[in-house]
Amino acid sequence: MLPLLAALWLTAAPLPAAPQALTSVTSSRALSDGLELRAGEATLRISALRDDILRIRVSPGATAPEDASWAVLREARTQRVKVKALPESEAAVGFRTAALEVRVEKNPLRLLILDLQGNLLSADAVGRPTQFLGGGFQLTKQMPADEHYFGLGDKAGPLDRRDQAFTLWNTDAYRNQESTDPIYKSIPFFMAVRAGRAHGILLDNTWRTHFDFGKQWRDAYSFGAEGGPLEYYFLHGPEPRKVLEGYTFLTGPAPLPPRWALGFQQSRFSYEPESRVREVASRLRADQIPSDVLFLDIDYLDRFRAFTVDKSKFPDLPGLIRDLGQQNFRVITISDMHIAKAPDAGYAPYDTGVAGNHFVHNPDGSLFAGRVWPGDSVFPDFTRAQTRAWWGSLYKELVAQGVAGHWNDMNEPSVFSPLKTLPLDSVHRIEEPGFESRNATHAEVHNVVGLLNARATYEGLLKLQPEERPYVLTRATYAGGHRYGATWTGDNSATWNQLRLSTPMLLNLGLSGFSLSGVDVGGYSGTPPEELLTRWYAVGAFNPLFRSHAEKGTGDHEVWAHGPAPAAVRRRYIETRYRLLPYFYTLAEENSRTGLPMMRPLFLEFPVATEDKHPLDLDAGHEFMLGRALLVAPPPFPENPDVYPVTLPPGDWFDFWTGRKAEGTRSGTAPANASTPSTLKVTPKLDELPVFVRAGSILPLQPLVQHTAQVPQGPLELRVYPGPDCQGDLYLDDGHSLAYKKGAWLRQRFSCQVEANGLKVTLARPTGSYPAWWKSVDIVVHDWPEARTSATLARGGSPSVRYDAATRTLRLSIPADRAGSELRLTRTP
Ligand code: GLC
Repeated sequence: MLPLLAALWLTAAPLPAAPQALTSVTSSRALSDGLELRAGEATLRISALRDDILRIRVSPGATAPEDASWAVLREARTQRVKVKALPESEAAVGFRTAALEVRVEKNPLRLLILDLQGNLLSADAVGRPTQFLGGGFQLTKQMPADEHYFGLGDKAGPLDRRDQAFTLWNTDAYRNQESTDPIYKSIPFFMAVRAGRAHGILLDNTWRTHFDFGKQWRDAYSFGAEGGPLEYYFLHGPEPRKVLEGYTFLTGPAPLPPRWALGFQQSRFSYEPESRVREVASRLRADQIPSDVLFLDIDYLDRFRAFTVDKSKFPDLPGLIRDLGQQNFRVITISDMHIAKAPDAGYAPYDTGVAGNHFVHNPDGSLFAGRVWPGDSVFPDFTRAQTRAWWGSLYKELVAQGVAGHWNDMNEPSVFSPLKTLPLDSVHRIEEPGFESRNATHAEVHNVVGLLNARATYEGLLKLQPEERPYVLTRATYAGGHRYGATWTGDNSATWNQLRLSTPMLLNLGLSGFSLSGVDVGGYSGTPPEELLTRWYAVGAFNPLFRSHAEKGTGDHEVWAHGPAPAAVRRRYIETRYRLLPYFYTLAEENSRTGLPMMRPLFLEFPVATEDKHPLDLDAGHEFMLGRALLVAPPPFPENPDVYPVTLPPGDWFDFWTGRKAEGTRSGTAPANASTPSTLKVTPKLDELPVFVRAGSILPLQPLVQHTAQVPQGPLELRVYPGPDCQGDLYLDDGHSLAYKKGAWLRQRFSCQVEANGLKVTLARPTGSYPAWWKSVDIVVHDWPEARTSATLARGGSPSVRYDAATRTLRLSIPADRAGSELRLTRTP
């Protein structure tokens, strides 16, 4: 069905007789920051926020839509650069920035965006003008045959969105899979990549929106909404990472998470009663399964009522949290956004919510109530700043009891009814600085409820503990929601296909602002067979969030399910993750500054790696990069025991487990050289997920710990993989407080350089005031050809070296030096 026809169905407002199409420009006016055009009644304004970012606002009449957004920061929306008007002609009008040319053809009206080399980046489709209809709109853009689309959050399916259509309407989508749409999140942002050039488009509209990348037309893609403003941003690359930087400029960076959130997290619906939680904790420690977090799902609550405790099952919650804390577990408790409708029952969240008028209403002024876990429930009106402050204050007791993180679930919002959510005409109130105060229908704000729920929690926690980093896990969200919390992909299933899907889902989330994301390891619904569970732990260990979770009534998903032999394999992956924590944490910190996701498609690191410059991932959608250095290559069909090809991007690669060079075969018609990808045939092994390290990397590892609060004992290990542009980074701080904002961090940059007779390894002088935990650094150089090697430190000293001929590895230890170190390795045959 046409998206606009869907709009007709669902919009209660009287419809205009005919669609209003923007067919031709009737007047235009140059502005210092862009251009304003009239097309009959309609107005189109294009402003340059930066040389590489345009804001495009179209309205059916003369008045611009309200300048307010839940996603795009005010600082970004109000920024402007001066543009240079192009000479106007009969046919066209336009302007240039220092990066882009904007041309509007007058009749028919078409917006074209080019780079300054004349490459056409984006153009309205010919013969399909932008239309307003029934309070909604739709616009179409040309879709070149070789353009590919990424983003839109975790919509299930292949990494490339081409040839598919999506609806963005936050929906509780139990057991979702490829064909399920919509699902939990609405992130109306995508990146278009064509011939090595990328740009992004963010449609900032919270209504039900539609994106069609060639399902309806072969040569045009379209997007639209059922109401609200037609307002979108164009973000120029041409590098994909530049587009993400632009998206971060618009929506803000994600906060730096606490380090423990990167540890292994164990959950189930539900560990109960209290004794069972203690049992799981003790087993994790007894079996030496490194872990940091335990979850309390809804069964710890009294009748599933948020902010209560079922005293019969959890007689002493504070005591439990304290004891778990002594075992170095952090506890995350669930607090679903709905509030049980329990008048005159001494249930404070309901009583104070009613007293403060904090709940969503029916059009007749009564409170809306819908059935969820606790039975009849009411729904906080999070578009009111006051309501968010009230919600945040509900965490006081949990925080005082030492609960470390908070899980906001069912916040699509989910209702157990045929509609699955609130009626579209239920009434929210927007009472928010920067917004016009008014009532809004649920149809308008539905998609932003999850974001605002997480925001209320995040800001409330910050108020309660101003020195601590809040940790919120949310299921539903909207563009920009990464500012308030981490997320996961919701209720998946214990199937091979879901394990396979987890990679493109997390990659597209990362490209949509949500770096700190994970999936339910083992699959939420159903019981994973032994091999599936092992393979899921293997892949999950390299995902940004690593949480094992399971539905009520399913078989065990814990490491020890299926006995000691598979447990040993699973534990080894978890141990690898803990050894790599310095790398993970450094990536999380990088994300919090730059918006670059931890988990990345290959094209983000290697944007022009193929002959025709198509994104490398189209040939290798099952692979992903973790940061700049690691390439993880799970089997494309994880249940298939056959040999499979791994695509290695240009350059040399090392096997992470053995440290040996991975010799791929270069393919393609171009002459084989280091700038083309190569292919490696791999036999799937349960105990060795293929992971490769990019030549030119220095990877920091720590001695094994059992949890992140344990100070690693021993040296920092730097694994050096010589190659071009050889580098590595390390970021460290206390892992939980906000003291890093005042300089209590440590950063160190590493680099290496191949020299005539050897290698120079540089550990730059660390910056920041946070003390390192290591006293010495073990340097491990891979693919070293020669046993006879001398090592000298620029500031004096010749550390002795050990050489392992079988693995071609050279090892040595140097003291940690606050002034940095320069090490020369010279072959002395
Ligand atoms: C939802 C969540 C799931 C949770 C359950 C009970 O289905 O997605 O993770 O365990 O509710 O709270």
